[in-house]
Amino acid sequence: MYKIAVAGTGYVGLVAGVCFAEMGHEVTCVDIDEEKVNLMKSGVSPIYESGLENLMQRNYTAGRINYTTDYHSAYKNANAIFIGVGTPEQPDGSANLSYIATVARQIAESVENDCLVVVKSTVPVGTNDKVEQFIQDFLVKDVKVEVASNPEFLAQGSAVHDTLHAERIIIGTESKWAEDLLTKIYEPFHIPIVSVNRRSAEMIKYASNDFLALKISYMNDIANLCELVGADIQDVAKGMSFDERIGSKFLNAGIGFGGSCFPKDTKALEYIARQNGYELKTVKAAIDVNKEQKTMLYKKASKRLITFNGLKVAVLGLTFKPGTDDLREAASLENVPLLLGQGADIYAFDPVGAENFAKVHPEGKNGKGSITYVSNIEHALEDANVCFIFTEWGEVKTLLPETYRELMRTPLVYDGRNIYRVEEMQEAGVEYHSIGRRPAIKEAVKESKNIELQNS
Ligand code: UDX
Repeated sequence: MYKIAVAGTGYVGLVAGVCFAEMGHEVTCVDIDEEKVNLMKSGVSPIYESGLENLMQRNYTAGRINYTTDYHSAYKNANAIFIGVGTPEQPDGSANLSYIATVARQIAESVENDCLVVVKSTVPVGTNDKVEQFIQDFLVKDVKVEVASNPEFLAQGSAVHDTLHAERIIIGTESKWAEDLLTKIYEPFHIPIVSVNRRSAEMIKYASNDFLALKISYMNDIANLCELVGADIQDVAKGMSFDERIGSKFLNAGIGFGGSCFPKDTKALEYIARQNGYELKTVKAAIDVNKEQKTMLYKKASKRLITFNGLKVAVLGLTFKPGTDDLREAASLENVPLLLGQGADIYAFDPVGAENFAKVHPEGKNGKGSITYVSNIEHALEDANVCFIFTEWGEVKTLLPETYRELMRTPLVYDGRNIYRVEEMQEAGVEYHSIGRRPAIKEAVKESKNIELQNS
């Protein structure tokens, strides 16, 4: 078993550290935030991630994982140091590498034995060559330090499972020593290892993520066309999925992709291409389609309603996907300001994301409209004039179609996640607009008129 240090305790770093400990390695996670370190020592995860706290507590009690702000002691005798710090997107689409540079310098100043530095953070192709040079330049002791690339493919919400049961592990190395060491570190995972050179490994990460982003944008593009020609995107996706060359995953049309990876990695690769004098047309198209898709439902609803001013608008789901409290690049972040700007009174429900969202849009009067966070869906729907579904949380998916008709003032639903069958909404008397499918309109309007008549 190896002595491993992990720099950065975000999604990538913390999950990797905990999983290495689970496999029996001796792990020290380093973070600059003292408060966060104390929190982790007490068994509390700073991120919302299923199964993570259990593993943190178990491995901490067993003495296999520790947390510290003292990078020097963590790095000095480590066999391998994994870097999992952020590489945030800059305004021009390039990746900000300053956190990586800081860690690289700390490593150079701390290591006292031969060690392998493994970059897990997503970095532009060629960065790891520079990181290695940078470390050599600042190295204090006469020891061997090499850099390897080991990109991460975990998805938020299933990060622990994705790490322990990954489909493949990509290692990019430039020497047999580095390749052998990294292979041995990963041996206990029993996962196929793809060993390539450093630049290919860096590229595999972008190429994989951008391919998935492209797949989603392609389905969203086709979905929009389906609406125009009277086809149904879910039937189309089903028909496509039987072809093994296409596969059945990531064919769900919706309100666009969000999160910390796809939006950032598409822009980063497009930037890398531009820097190299090449236009990456496919990825550029994926980015453009995604931008349009985010406000597709808002635009549809704006045409239908004339104004949102003074309307009660139920917003179901704020996070970029279920199973996480992460709001990065979520559709809600684009749509809520538009609705507030139009004077809507929003009642927002999200089982875990509301607190983070309230930091950006505090409760109360907000722009021309207002926003209120509610902990039960019924409260959001009661007397609402219109409802938007932005995240397919289980709580939303299990809501019966009748509930919308019974609770809302006007049963008018815009669903960005195609949660319901059009027919069931039609039968329930709900006016229902979704992505790439026909709307449920006529009967719904008729029905709601009948209800109004019965009530009058
Ligand atoms: C993704 C990749 O899955 C992971 O391998 C990579 O390392 C990091 O980026 P993540 O961002 O956590 O993970 O979420 P993911 O489940 O892939 O979803 C990303 C976005 O695409 C979400 O907004 C999701 O709603 C959307 N999506 C996904 C669709 O719109 N349709 C789909 O069919 C699948």
